[in-house]
Amino acid sequence: MEYVNLNNRVKMPILGYGVYQVSNDECERCVLDAIDVGYRAIDTAQAYGNEEAVGSAIAKCGLPREELFLTTKIWISNGGQEKAAASIDESLKKLGTDYIDLMLIHQPFNDYYGTYRAMEDAYKAGKLRAIGVSNFYPDRFIDLCKFVEIKPAVNQIETHVFQQQKTAHSYLEKYGVQHESWGPFAEGRKDFFGNLVLNQIGEKYGKSAAQTALRFLIQSNVVVIPKSTHKERMAQNLDVFDFVLNAGDMAAISALDEGESLFFSHYDPDTVEMLTGLAR
Ligand SMILES: NC(=O)c1ccc[n+]([C@@H]2O[C@H](COP(=O)([O-])OP(=O)(O)OC[C@H]3O[C@@H](n4cnc5c(N)ncnc54)[C@H](OP(=O)(O)O)[C@@H]3O)[C@@H](O)[C@H]2O)c1
Repeated sequence: MEYVNLNNRVKMPILGYGVYQVSNDECERCVLDAIDVGYRAIDTAQAYGNEEAVGSAIAKCGLPREELFLTTKIWISNGGQEKAAASIDESLKKLGTDYIDLMLIHQPFNDYYGTYRAMEDAYKAGKLRAIGVSNFYPDRFIDLCKFVEIKPAVNQIETHVFQQQKTAHSYLEKYGVQHESWGPFAEGRKDFFGNLVLNQIGEKYGKSAAQTALRFLIQSNVVVIPKSTHKERMAQNLDVFDFVLNAGDMAAISALDEGESLFFSHYDPDTVEMLTGLAR
C-alpha cells in the first residue's frame, strides 16, 4: 500500500474501499472481504445507512484499530454546530470506535460553517484525526479555506478519467488539500470498462481498464476508493502497485477528460433542490 501525507501529517492510504450503495445486509460481508484481500481504508457516510455494518465488520476482522483508516461523512440533515456534534457521536457509536480517521462534510449545503466548527471541536477533542469536505466546488472550497481555523485535509469530489477535475485539482494543490476521488469508475457509465484507450494501455501491462484507470488517478496524486461487492474485483482493484504508466500513457488518458460531471452539477439549481430535498 502507498500512502499520502495529509496537511496535518496524518497518513492516509492512497487506495481504499467505498461502500456507497452497498446494502446494510451485504455490507459487513463486503468490508470483511475487502479487509481480507488487503484494503485498510474504508469510506462510508451517515447517508449510506451502513455505518453499523462497517462497525461490525471492523470489530470482527481481527485487526488492531490503528491499522485501519475509517472515513465517514456528515449528512445535510445534520448540518449546524449542535446537530453535527451529536451526529459525530452517533457515527462513533455506530462504527464502534473511539475515533474516526477522517470526517467529511458530505455536501456544501445547510449550515456547513456550523458543521465545520463541530468537526473542529471534535478534532481538538481527539474524536477525529482529520477533517475535510466533499463535493465542494472551487468557489465554496476557497471560501471555506479562508474562514476556518483548521484547514480541511481532504476534498472528496467526483473524479474519473472523463471528469478529471483539473481546475479543482490545481486549487486543492494551491491550498495544500488532498484530492480524493469519488466514483473512480464513474459507476460504469459511458461504457467505462469497455473504453478502448484504457483497455489498450492496460493490455501492455497485463492490466484491466479498471486497474489502468485507478493507476492513472494514483499517479495524478488522487486518493481512490473504488467500490465492488465482488471479492475478486476488490482484489483486482487493489492490484495496481506493480506497474507504472509512462508519460505517453498518462497523456493519452488525460485526453479522455471531458471536464464535465457524468452525474450532476452543484451549480445547477435542480441538483441543489434535489440534494437538499433528500435531507428533509
Ligand atoms: N462523497 C460523495 O458524494 C460520494 C458519491 C459517490 C460515491 N462516493 C464514494 O466513492 C466510492 C466509489 O464510488 P461509487 O461506488 O459511486 O462507484 P465506482 O467505484 O466508480 O463504481 C462502482 C461500480 O463499478 C463496478 N466495478 C467495480 N470494480 C470493477 C471491476 N474491476 N471491473 C468491472 N466492474 C467493476 C461495481 O460493480 P460490482 O459492485 O457489482 O462489482 C459498481 O457497479 C463509493 O462507494 C463511496 O464510498 C462518494
